[in-house]
Amino acid sequence: MSDRLVRADNLYARIRDCARCPLSATRTHAVPGEGSLESEIMFIGEGPGMNEDRQGRPFVGAAGQFLDELIGEAGFRREEVYICNVLKCRPPQNRDPMPAEVEACDDYLQEQIALIDPLVIVSLGRFSMARFFPKAKISQVHGKSRAIGERMFVPMYHPAAALHQQSLRETIREDFRALPSIVEEARALRPGPTGPGEAVVEEPAARQIPLFE
Ligand code: URA
Repeated sequence: MSDRLVRADNLYARIRDCARCPLSATRTHAVPGEGSLESEIMFIGEGPGMNEDRQGRPFVGAAGQFLDELIGEAGFRREEVYICNVLKCRPPQNRDPMPAEVEACDDYLQEQIALIDPLVIVSLGRFSMARFFPKAKISQVHGKSRAIGERMFVPMYHPAAALHQQSLRETIREDFRALPSIVEEARALRPGPTGPGEAVVEEPAARQIPLFE
């Protein structure tokens, strides 16, 4: 078993047993996340809904079906990307996550990011975006990538929002279609096999325009 797999198993076991916040009392299953541990892209949603809570898997309901479509249109397969949520347990009646719940789950998300070490993090929806860019407005920054260090961040609308609001559908589709070129750009942020790339080190700082503040 690879070291990554062992670490993932260990993390998932801790998440499934977690009782750090009151959501653990109302959940059916915790939803750690799933997908390729070697993925270059990590999608981070808000938190499990009813179907996810039942199955213990992220994005398996209607929003998940649309997400699968979007991932496909961007030229990827669901199994080759990584999908998780800010919250690992379902908030009752799908209410908005509370700050204390986000805080209680944050170590898990950080450990997950360190484990997958994706080139690109795609936040899905406002709550996930706020975890990285608390002051940003999704209507202004959706689809716009930003490099921080050796990683790109791209806030996207939540697929469920686009399901309910027809006008957002084409917007989110367009944003997803730009993903391959964002991944390509992100590859240039990492040192290559022949040693650190030169332009690469300076580029992230240059790109940190106050777009998301
Ligand atoms: N919405 C989310 O944010 N995450 C899921 O896993 C499902 C729906």
